[in-house]
Amino acid sequence: MYVPKQVLTNGDLAQTVDTSDEWIRTRTGIERRHVAGAGESTAQMAIEAARAALRVADADPRAIDLIIVGTSTPDHLMPSTACQVQNALGATRAGAFDLNAACSSFVYALAMGHQAIASGEHRLVLVIGADTLTRFVDWQDRSTCVLFGDGAGAVLLRATEGPAGILATLLGSDGSGGDLLIIPAGGSALPPSKESVEKGLHYLRMNGQEVYRFATQTLAQATEEVAKRAGLKPDQIDLIIPHQANLRIITTAAKRLKLPLERFVVNLQEYGNTSAASVPIALCEALEAGRINPGQNIVLVGFGAGLTWAAVALKWSISPARAVSPAYRVWWRWLLYRWAGIRSRLRQATRHVTVWLIRLANRIGHR
Ligand code: UT7
Repeated sequence: MYVPKQVLTNGDLAQTVDTSDEWIRTRTGIERRHVAGAGESTAQMAIEAARAALRVADADPRAIDLIIVGTSTPDHLMPSTACQVQNALGATRAGAFDLNAACSSFVYALAMGHQAIASGEHRLVLVIGADTLTRFVDWQDRSTCVLFGDGAGAVLLRATEGPAGILATLLGSDGSGGDLLIIPAGGSALPPSKESVEKGLHYLRMNGQEVYRFATQTLAQATEEVAKRAGLKPDQIDLIIPHQANLRIITTAAKRLKLPLERFVVNLQEYGNTSAASVPIALCEALEAGRINPGQNIVLVGFGAGLTWAAVALKWSISPARAVSPAYRVWWRWLLYRWAGIRSRLRQATRHVTVWLIRLANRIGHR
């Protein structure tokens, strides 16, 4: 996982917009958020998170078959953030694409990564959730700017024969709610223009109450449904890692599922809503805190704009003790990343020289 160093507390926000620490805490549970600074972007955070995942899994970037980046805030409309990750890792064998299901993107991507392995086509799939929504919020709009933070989280999926791993997946959408959480301009419907910028149409707009109603229903329903598909009753789920939008949403889901809140991973007080990154960041923190152990049934569940929702039920199989790379392998990967940078620049230079040579040949031919 990766989160920016720059922290913005509720108190900091209260100095710039009409809000208070008390309002934000009681209505959302959020206390602070990490905000991308100069030089930080979705791709840069995704690359850092991917390198951390490769370190923990002790894997070689050149063995990755597929990279899926779940994001709704890519660095550019094109190329994809996944291609930027592929280039920075030197993942020379990998296909790469972005997947946008807003805050559900990571869980969607995880389900897709699982299918890619289950099809037999791929053996090692890198799945990343990364978002920089703070670049798309209106910092004068107190109803949205207090909610979001930035970050990235990544996991590596590996083909195994064992009984553990992903047990069931669930994907859902309801496009009739598209207007409830939307960035109106910047796409093909409303390309950037002086007018769109003046009207602030590049900022995120949200009908908070409607999204809240949708989220409270969806979180419990999706968890219950994916558990059922995995052959589990809700009380057989050891840990639920939900999208971190609002503590009240998670508390309501816990009540509906008749499960104690302790069964849920909650870290939104530190990061706010990091969109696609929230579930993988919570997964990493739960792992580091020793809350995840082999044999446990875990449900990851996301919801967000679209409207979309997604859930994955899995049986954890990796012992945390195994998740340490020997030092020489860390150095080896460091060298590979340096080489990836050199290789990328060499390929760019070769392209420039080739174009130059073709132009020269054409000019000589015309004489
Ligand atoms: O990841 C995407 C999914 N997004 C979500 O899940 C977000 C879902 N929605 C929510 O979490 C909640 O609806 C919010 C946290 C966004 C808002 O909480 P709420 O309890 O639904 O508040 P509200 O929108 O009903 O607003 C209540 C009052 C309003 O004032 P009046 O009209 O009662 O005078 C707002 O203007 O709170 C006011 N308000 C604020 N006051 C201080 C709204 N934002 C703020 C603020 N500080 N930051």
